[in-house]
Amino acid sequence: MKRDAIAVVGAGKGGTAILQALLKMPDIVIRHVCDIEPGAPGMAFAREHGIAWDGDLETVCRDPEVDLIFEATGRRSVYDRILALKHPRTRVIGSEDAKIIFHLLVLQQGVSDKLGDHNLELDRRVRERTRELAQANETLEQINNEKTRYLMHATHQLKAPFAAIQSYIDVLLEGYAGAFEPRAREILLKMRQRCALLSESIKEMLELANLKSMVRENIKMETAALDDIFASAVRHLVDMAAVRGIRIVVPPPTGLRVLCNRNQILILLSTLLENAVQYSPDGSDIQVAAAAPSGGDRVEVAVTDHGIGIAADVVDRIFDEYFRANEAVAVHEQGTGLGLAIAREISNLHSTTIRVDSAPGQGATFSFRLRIAAHP
Ligand SMILES: Nc1ncnc2c1ncn2[C@@H]1O[C@H](COP(=O)(O)OP(=O)(O)OP(=O)(O)O)[C@@H](O)[C@H]1O
Ligand SMILES: [Mg+2]
Repeated sequence: MKRDAIAVVGAGKGGTAILQALLKMPDIVIRHVCDIEPGAPGMAFAREHGIAWDGDLETVCRDPEVDLIFEATGRRSVYDRILALKHPRTRVIGSEDAKIIFHLLVLQQGVSDKLGDHNLELDRRVRERTRELAQANETLEQINNEKTRYLMHATHQLKAPFAAIQSYIDVLLEGYAGAFEPRAREILLKMRQRCALLSESIKEMLELANLKSMVRENIKMETAALDDIFASAVRHLVDMAAVRGIRIVVPPPTGLRVLCNRNQILILLSTLLENAVQYSPDGSDIQVAAAAPSGGDRVEVAVTDHGIGIAADVVDRIFDEYFRANEAVAVHEQGTGLGLAIAREISNLHSTTIRVDSAPGQGATFSFRLRIAAHP
């Protein structure tokens, strides 16, 4: 389709506004821009956009290829000259007749210039803010790492003197320094118990700080037999469960090999099993399950108990460091509230999430997924 060829006569404000508007229209071509003043803004615009610019009105008017002339000078005499000179088939729009169009175009141009400026400013501000945020984030991360390192160091320093206190108490209880009054012995036993709890806390704090300082990419992943992981985790807990007549039931051999850091997954599973035992009634059963949909690349591991369960209003907090529900403290006074925080760090490092399904008094199921390395 032939495109309309247009000439704009008058390259002042109105002419420039027309040029800018015309340039956005797909079916036209601007053939000339004409003004007696070569420095007029519309002439500069024409040069910038590779449009022919001309000072001679006659050349423009006599061009037979021009379909339409826009007279934008605002002068009647120029309009009349165009009418006299133009090729018979060329149409003409004069500024007298089209004043309102020019006015609107100038207005529209003003608005879009302002919008453009505004957008540039917004862009600049967004970039600036993004940079500031990235910097703040980096600083926060540094502070956090610093804190973790400090915590690890302090906890580590506590470990040795603590172990010494513990062994002195053991020595005393064994009668090395003579017999104790029953009351004194009772106090020593309590001290031993508290020491055991505190050293467990220290171990868990170190474990957690250590996990927090790790990044997923640097974790050593290996393939491990899922059935072995189950057997090892149960072995850790079997005595503690047996004392209270609790049975831990594992699934029939799966033959699956999973991709994981074996040691960490063992800690995760042992943590879930330990909680299941601690918060279950004597004589109950705990089930370990493994579900791998055929053809899938993940196996879901679940630990189900029939214990005290978890209230809906605290279930979101149980993975927080040091959080313990009141019902849990009531059945098992001593605990640090760090077990699930550790478990969560491990699940994050393995790109999985621990899901909880529970209701008060109805037991609980904790589950997570592992990547399958090989099917049997
Ligand atoms: N199987 C479960 N049944 C009911 N509540 C649970 C169970 N597992 C965890 N919880 C709740 O989540 C809380 C946090 O568990 P977490 O293992 O982190 O700490 P803890 O068991 O209290 O102490 P510890 O650090 O010694 O393990 C528990 O105090 C308890 O309220
Ligand atoms: Mg626990």
